[in-house]
Amino acid sequence: MSYLETAHRVYRDAAARVQKSLCCTPGPRFELPELTIPQTMEDMNYGCGTTVHLQDLSPGLDVLYIGVGSGMEALQFAYFTRRPRSVLAVDRVPEMLEVARRNFAEAERVNPWFRSEFVELLEGDALSLPVADARVDLVAQNCLFNIFTPEHLDRALAEAARALKAGGRLALSDPICEEPIPKRLRDDERLRAECLSGALPLDEYVAHVARAGFGTIEIRARRPYRVLDRRRYGLEKDLLLESVEAVAIRSPMPSDGPCVFAGETVVFVGNDDYFDDGRGHHVQRDVPLPVCRKTAAAMRALGREDLIVTGPTWHCAGGGCC
Ligand SMILES: C[S@@+](CC[C@H](N)C(=O)[O-])C[C@H]1O[C@@H](n2cnc3c(N)ncnc32)[C@H](O)[C@@H]1O
Repeated sequence: MSYLETAHRVYRDAAARVQKSLCCTPGPRFELPELTIPQTMEDMNYGCGTTVHLQDLSPGLDVLYIGVGSGMEALQFAYFTRRPRSVLAVDRVPEMLEVARRNFAEAERVNPWFRSEFVELLEGDALSLPVADARVDLVAQNCLFNIFTPEHLDRALAEAARALKAGGRLALSDPICEEPIPKRLRDDERLRAECLSGALPLDEYVAHVARAGFGTIEIRARRPYRVLDRRRYGLEKDLLLESVEAVAIRSPMPSDGPCVFAGETVVFVGNDDYFDDGRGHHVQRDVPLPVCRKTAAAMRALGREDLIVTGPTWHCAGGGCC
């Protein structure tokens, strides 16, 4: 049986009965006017962060959600789109699709604005999406892609890129690891399916995303997710897993590689009104300019006392330099 079949079994079971510690991280409740999330959706939230960010949402969007789970985030996207079939929600596991279908019926009962037809549920695989090329403006996946081997991750990202219009956005939430996870654990199909051992270090994860043709990547959040502790997992030391939220934009790839925004800024404190590096970065005095990691490194390398480059906060909400 392939590891993908093991994942199928794990999520068939997770659809039949709530698995309390699967994937999820405690976070604030999503409170929006007139949005009531059915308890059954919250109970089966198997995501490790959020993919729903206000700055990516505008009226008229078409959204593709991969790995629908209980349907909670698909409902949150539908809150903004509010048109029939404006959220396409794909899942490989029929039992999970059935849970989502039931939950959307309940969501319709408790949310006067919502109609189940806003979300079209599709049985299908992230590795071969049942969606036409350039069909949507935004693709989202939460805590699914980390299950895949690096080869399959590339395929899933290529499929997401194929479904997106030019300039479209891919919202991701996945576990990452501070140090590579030993092969013995990575090869454990159950741990991988449970989002515990497929995680990659952030730089590698970002490199996979960029390779799929995303020229801009914003790291929106990064926070503790799990610890693979040395006693339970037979490791030399505890290994911290974090969850990362990132949004990748299908913009042209710069010749020197992707622009990755991690919350770094440049502040000019010189005597002039502004500093211009001659490479498209105009920094007004005293006003922090969000810059990508490449530009932050280049500005630091200038070694100027009147240019202060702040470190990564791992929280970039947009508005960058390039
Ligand atoms: C960890 S859960 C996350 C569910 C949901 N995104 C959330 O945040 O609660 C992974 C989801 O992906 C689905 N899934 C597993 N393998 C898949 C595949 N190859 N293609 C599409 N969906 C898959 C599972 O059935 C499950 O619903």
